Amino acid sequence: MTHPKPDAVRVGVVGCGSVSGVYLPRLQQLQIQGVRAELVAACDVDPSRREVVRERYGVARFTTDYRELLADPAVDLVLVLTSMREHGEITRAALTAGKHVLVEKPMAMTLEEGRAIVDLAKTSPGYLLCAPHVTLSPTYRAIWRRVHGGDIGRVLTARGFYGWAGPSWGQWFYRPGGGAMFDLGVYNVTTLTGLLGPAKRVVAMSGIAIPERIVDGEPMRVQTDDNAHLLLDFGDAVYAVVTTGFTIQRYRVPGIELYGSDGTIQMIGEDWAPTGYELWQNRAGCWQVYDVGGGWPWSDGLRHLIECVQAGTPPINTPEHAFHALEIMVKTMESGRTGQALPIESTFTPPRFDPEGEPATAAHLIHDPSRT
Ligand SMILES: NC(=O)c1ccc[n+]([C@@H]2O[C@H](COP(=O)([O-])OP(=O)(O)OC[C@H]3O[C@@H](n4cnc5c(N)ncnc54)[C@H](O)[C@@H]3O)[C@@H](O)[C@H]2O)c1
Repeated sequence: MTHPKPDAVRVGVVGCGSVSGVYLPRLQQLQIQGVRAELVAACDVDPSRREVVRERYGVARFTTDYRELLADPAVDLVLVLTSMREHGEITRAALTAGKHVLVEKPMAMTLEEGRAIVDLAKTSPGYLLCAPHVTLSPTYRAIWRRVHGGDIGRVLTARGFYGWAGPSWGQWFYRPGGGAMFDLGVYNVTTLTGLLGPAKRVVAMSGIAIPERIVDGEPMRVQTDDNAHLLLDFGDAVYAVVTTGFTIQRYRVPGIELYGSDGTIQMIGEDWAPTGYELWQNRAGCWQVYDVGGGWPWSDGLRHLIECVQAGTPPINTPEHAFHALEIMVKTMESGRTGQALPIESTFTPPRFDPEGEPATAAHLIHDPSRT
């Protein structure tokens, strides 16, 4: 399929809430860096966002009906940044309208809707890029190279950890179609399946730990799971566990841990904001600490998608990977209700990287007194 190669990629945004305050400044930064892209239209069901977008980003074209934005031939790429329940419907409509689409996580609420989106993306003239963009980070790639270069042997067991106290805005986060798994667990699930490949089975404890909250200044009853531990089975007795929730105030543990037959890798920081990794190799007998550098923006999918549109090459993160993560998340919540281990039926090909990659950063060594 041939893709049009617009000169400056013209971006329309649907959903001008909190996260648009990250993506739209990022677009401005990309422009300053010489990337040819511009924000041309915005949409939010809340009409008060019109003034905000006009003042902050100089965009006059505003609508409260996303269909109007999708019908605009002057929009090449649509950013879907609404609350989660709307993602599936808007993404389908945008792909049908022939647009390139970046959708925040999750791609959809149900497996049926997710499957329809994956099928549509195969025939649509537009590219589909689904958040989270964790596999684009330099730290993720460095770890991928270590794992696939055999530097810790065969990975046997792994952990992901991501949580916080939960948003004080957006009651939808705590209603069906929201929840900690879709909002937070999705990062670790995407990272671990990216590194280890498709999972075969999930079993989980998932439930509502804090039944009442104050959100947007109002008390509310929480209606979707805010606390989860899930176990993933990758086959051949290789397992991973993910701990996530709007139930965690602070922590100082790695976002991702991989334990192999010959060593260990621990990511430094969260998988959406990593700064490097620590590597243990039995043969080296010391911890090697690699600083890959902070500052990688988690909204980097926007740069990637714009570059893909301009180059006419599909994004590295596939809709199939996002669908696989969706199946794990939906079945985590189901497993939490039923107590059953559930098979994961979808599969995908994880992104691969040049084994040589970027030049290695120097290691800071920490010797293990028990080994010296
Ligand atoms: N806030 C963050 O830090 C953050 C970080 C990463 C990802 N995300 C993801 O970004 C998405 C949005 O989160 P948020 O925090 O910005 O939420 P938010 O509630 O602040 O913003 C959502 C916006 O979407 C608008 N909206 C809802 N339905 C719409 C529709 N049909 N058409 C047009 N506009 C519509 C709402 O009026 C609101 O302004 C979520 O998927 C979230 O998981 C958020």
